[in-house]
Amino acid sequence: SSAIMVKDLADQLGVKATELIKRLIGLGVMAGVNQELDRETAVIIATEFGATVEERATQEEQEEIILQGEDDSPESLTERPPVVTVMGHVDHGKTSLLDRIRATRVTQSEAGGITQHIGASVIEWNDRKVVFLDTPGHEAFTSMRARGAQVTDVAVLVVAANDGVMPQTVEAINHAKAANVPIVVAINKIDLPGANPDKVRTELSNYGLIAEEWGGDTIMVPVSARTGEGIENLLEALILQADVLELKANSQRAAQGTIIEAKLDKGRGPVATVLVSRGMLNVGDVFVAGAVYGRVRALINDRGQRVKSAGPSMPVEVLGFNQLPEAGDDFVILADERQAKSIADSRQDRIRRQSEPNARGVSLDDFLQRL
Ligand code: GTP
Ligand code: MG
Repeated sequence: SSAIMVKDLADQLGVKATELIKRLIGLGVMAGVNQELDRETAVIIATEFGATVEERATQEEQEEIILQGEDDSPESLTERPPVVTVMGHVDHGKTSLLDRIRATRVTQSEAGGITQHIGASVIEWNDRKVVFLDTPGHEAFTSMRARGAQVTDVAVLVVAANDGVMPQTVEAINHAKAANVPIVVAINKIDLPGANPDKVRTELSNYGLIAEEWGGDTIMVPVSARTGEGIENLLEALILQADVLELKANSQRAAQGTIIEAKLDKGRGPVATVLVSRGMLNVGDVFVAGAVYGRVRALINDRGQRVKSAGPSMPVEVLGFNQLPEAGDDFVILADERQAKSIADSRQDRIRRQSEPNARGVSLDDFLQRL
């Protein structure tokens, strides 16, 4: 909520600052003329001076309303592909599973075989598109898994059948539950001699995930990323799960989305992957992303091809940021570049102010001097 300086409030009320400060002391608030009062205190004081306080949105609230944009009417909505996030413990085979699904080989190109960021890919199966986000299983990447869960429609929880439920398996379950995202379990590595899918089912039941075949409502699909066994079943289960959700979005409006990763590229400058949640993102569009802004200079799809636009559920690399945004930031197209800049600037200001040492702790000496 907003704050107001004591002297400004006194001006607005048409009273002397010292009068106002006396009243504040009466309320047990020690404040100097240059001190900011929180909204509640300001309202109480203003009322004491007989002023009526009109509810007005703060600048921040006004900006958020602009960024939120209009709601989409039910008629404007059309089907969109599901966004599926692959989560699970380190080395349980998330990236291998995705490779198998895409029939490419991303695992080998990753540094040390550990997934470093949320990789996004779009696959087509039986004429249906599915968007996959890969997440790292390493314990250091909690926030990325949490973020993955937030932008996702369905979570694939990968559990290695020879290893069972491990700490990041449990964490992934918690993130998915917190985000209210349905979980489909992929019991992976069933090709290994030590694989024990039933042990995985038992362990998962301790976390409230009961397999369908055991009378529960969680789909658990035994798979092998190595041999390809069960992959079709997994895709079918995901489509089924997505159909239940009836995922829709307006693809005609100005785009909105979320930054899922951002990096400073030597040659290209700030580059970020945006997951479009609604609308159509086009080259040339003006945007705000968190506290930065820009104009879309180029869009690059998950296969590294330049595209002119990207619709709902699509992950796309965006060039044209004035500075590096942060993963998790909102991404909103605006009609006016000046407005985009002004919103980004005021968000920057707010971030700066929040990180400054608190100006509220005033000593009695300071207080008396100011008086
Ligand atoms: P992080 O991203 O680091 O969390 O790991 P990940 O879950 O993406 O695992 P990744 O796909 O990198 O696989 C880890 C290791 O398990 C690799 O050596 C894979 O070859 C192996 N692996 C993955 N799936 C299978 C499988 O189905 N069967 C067998 N035998 N090995 C597998
Ligand atoms: Mg990986």
